Amino acid sequence: MKTVTTIAAVRAWRHAHESAVGLVPTMGYLHAGHVSLVERARRENPRVAASLFVNPTQFGPNEDLARYPRDLARDQELLAAAGCDLLFAPSVEEMYPEASQVFVDPGPIAAPLEGGRRPGHFRGVATVVLKLFGIVEPTRAYFGEKDAQQLAVIRRVVRDLDVPVGIVGCPTQRAEDGLALSSRNTYLSPTQRAAAPVLHRALGAGAAAWAGGERRGDALRRAMLDVLDREPLARADYVSAADPATLQEIDAAAGPVLLSMAVFFGKTRLIDNRLLTP
Ligand code: PAF
Repeated sequence: MKTVTTIAAVRAWRHAHESAVGLVPTMGYLHAGHVSLVERARRENPRVAASLFVNPTQFGPNEDLARYPRDLARDQELLAAAGCDLLFAPSVEEMYPEASQVFVDPGPIAAPLEGGRRPGHFRGVATVVLKLFGIVEPTRAYFGEKDAQQLAVIRRVVRDLDVPVGIVGCPTQRAEDGLALSSRNTYLSPTQRAAAPVLHRALGAGAAAWAGGERRGDALRRAMLDVLDREPLARADYVSAADPATLQEIDAAAGPVLLSMAVFFGKTRLIDNRLLTP
């Protein structure tokens, strides 16, 4: 695997390979979830590129940009072993030279849930992902379903701006106890880590209510909150039962429903979701 840090080097690599390229955008500190994206990209494309960039424009002023975990050498090993051909690991200056003034407004789909709690987050995500698409010119790009709203935002950007990149959503990878894999899990103390599978259990309670015929949004949200409320280390930021197409909260479901939540353990905020289909 080759590691490059400049846009010019990525373009030179891309233009030397006419074949399909699968791109896995990441912020590094990789785990088995990222590895599964690279492996899938490897199966579906003759060439695979990954990016590693902790994108400052998607972090709010009080978020964890400075302490976001980093380990380039370990990430390089994992990517190479998973079959990645090219790693693009640019500096902030390379991605956002001083003159940068244009940002992507992802519209109403970015307003609720994560977008409501993290103003400007999806503007930063949409902008950097569109830039990466312009730099790498991938055929397909791979994103985890754990970040369900991010995936919905990216699909919408690509659709509305006619970006010729196939967006592939990949299943959330979980630890044995059900906790969704995330780079942020490393912030958890041992007791918080032991408590964190409560997100998975709460989503399970929502899914069980749904399986029992419950279709009212408030009852689905209540079923999840009841489980979270019983875990003293967990503090729910939001709990949602929403239309997966618009991400607006539902009163009574007529079609599929996306259950999602953000939960604090101390200062660490974890998210998870589960799609319910009739
Ligand atoms: O999901 C992430 O790691 C990031 O939001 C992404 C898509 C790499 C953009 O910075």
